[in-house]
Amino acid sequence: MYFILTSSLIVAFAYAVERLALKIRFGLFALLFWLFVFQFALIFAIDALLQNLSPYLPAWLSSLATTVGGFAFVTIGITPLITLVLAAAYLLFALGNWLFDRDEKDDVLLPSRFTIAIDGPAASGKGTLARRIADYYGYHHLDTGLTYRAVAKALMDQNMPLDDEFLAEKAARTIDLAKLDRTALSAHDVGEAASKVAIMPAVRRALVASQQAFAIRSPGTVLDGRDIGTVVCPDAPVKLYITASPEARAKRRYDEIKSSGACVQYDDILADLVRRDARDMGRTDSPLKPAADAHLLDTTEMDIETAFLNAKTLIDQALAGSKH
Ligand code: DC
Repeated sequence: MYFILTSSLIVAFAYAVERLALKIRFGLFALLFWLFVFQFALIFAIDALLQNLSPYLPAWLSSLATTVGGFAFVTIGITPLITLVLAAAYLLFALGNWLFDRDEKDDVLLPSRFTIAIDGPAASGKGTLARRIADYYGYHHLDTGLTYRAVAKALMDQNMPLDDEFLAEKAARTIDLAKLDRTALSAHDVGEAASKVAIMPAVRRALVASQQAFAIRSPGTVLDGRDIGTVVCPDAPVKLYITASPEARAKRRYDEIKSSGACVQYDDILADLVRRDARDMGRTDSPLKPAADAHLLDTTEMDIETAFLNAKTLIDQALAGSKH
């Protein structure tokens, strides 16, 4: 009776401890604890058996059973103690881990994804700035202009018209963001063609869908283009609108083309840029414009490092705000 009562109490207590241990996920502790209880119960059983059986056994068998039982008693008797010490050590270890984990969980308050939307006209410096920001924060970068350029280039390579929405949409659906080749797509005429292709809603729908899928990558993304803050990522916590005078932008483009060895006229570049601005800002679907909550950054008189430091201040503020 005493044996059954004590065993039941031990088992009930062990079960309660195990539940608690599992709740805070100290799995190994729970296992060791059960092992301890099992060994303890085994000792009880052997002891009870020896006491109850020995009066009925012949003297020699009783003495042998007592010797063997005593030996088992001592051996098994030590193991619950070892198990208990192990369980206690693991409990301490798990407790330490748990506290450490809690610190990490504070970091989880950091957003698991963060999107920075950058818009602006051609040659405003948004691409360089976007790459610099992505490098600094370790975020993925997508120059969405390249997606429109890739569609235009695909049509041009097959001598297809640039204003056939059906063909252009088909091309847009096959664009692989991982295979955008900046060098192959950087030609001036490809940019011009991209601006034409970009007025077609079906093309935009297809490309915007893949850009939005890109935007949710962890730990964060930087997308630059014309409609990122207004259409692609309207909920981005940081939106920048980069601008510069047409003359400053034309000069940058002119220097860039000249340094590659090509022959070009500054006036032609300026005229092209003005025409491109008009097309990008004047189209019905997703025209280039700053989002209502975008921060404007005029880079006419600003070098890239100053622009980056300005952007960094805004981004760091938004990151700090999103932690609370
Ligand atoms: O940024 P870029 O020069 O590579 O862009 C080429 C053209 O693509 C641009 O003139 C308009 C179009 N574009 C767009 O309509 N929307 C975007 N998000 C990015 C580019």
